[in-house]
Amino acid sequence: MITIALTKGRILKETLPLLAQAGIEPEEDISASRKLMFATNRSDIRLLVLRGVDVPTYVQFGAADLGVAGKDTLMEHEGNGYYEPLDLGISRCRLMTAGIVGARRPSGRIRVATKYLNVARHYYAECGRQADVIKLYGAMELAPLVSLCDEIVDIVDTGNTMKANGLESRELIADISSRLIVNKGALKIKHGTIRPLINQLDAVVRAAD
Ligand code: PRP
Repeated sequence: MITIALTKGRILKETLPLLAQAGIEPEEDISASRKLMFATNRSDIRLLVLRGVDVPTYVQFGAADLGVAGKDTLMEHEGNGYYEPLDLGISRCRLMTAGIVGARRPSGRIRVATKYLNVARHYYAECGRQADVIKLYGAMELAPLVSLCDEIVDIVDTGNTMKANGLESRELIADISSRLIVNKGALKIKHGTIRPLINQLDAVVRAAD
């Protein structure tokens, strides 16, 4: 049995057509269900639907053989135990720093709010800036408006959320897209099934380019 971990929302919506082109289709409508595990038309493949941040954990520990996760999630997870063989080229966005439009950055320590704690710590350290990083779980755009922080580190797609909250994006930390990850042990043990699957998805992604 091959287990593939997915996450609800945009990644699921954009991953299902890729899987379908590789001949894998869930037996029921995932987005209309409260279930978390789904059989597919292939009796040897099942799908899990997790919170995005949990996908690398499931794959790292081998509870899922494969997973689809945003590069932002993988950068933050900093896990080992899995390879990242394929950029699926979907769910593209940018990981940026941002602050209030026109606001001056403090010359000394900067206070940063984000759910990407590790990414932010590394980024500001690499820039040679002293940063106090505060962990938030969502609605980051609010934090500078109420002086919780000077800057945020967050995902920008259309830029509408920033704009609606009077923020401007500043520095690009990374271009983001969804990646296929595979448990290292599973790739060895189930090589005969997993390798062809990766190759098939690779061909689907290349054809879409
Ligand atoms: C993400 C991100 C921004 C928004 C950016 O939030 O955190 O708030 O999307 O998109 P935009 O540039 O197109 O406006 P999401 O809706 O995924 O929810 P989250 O706060 O749980 O991350």
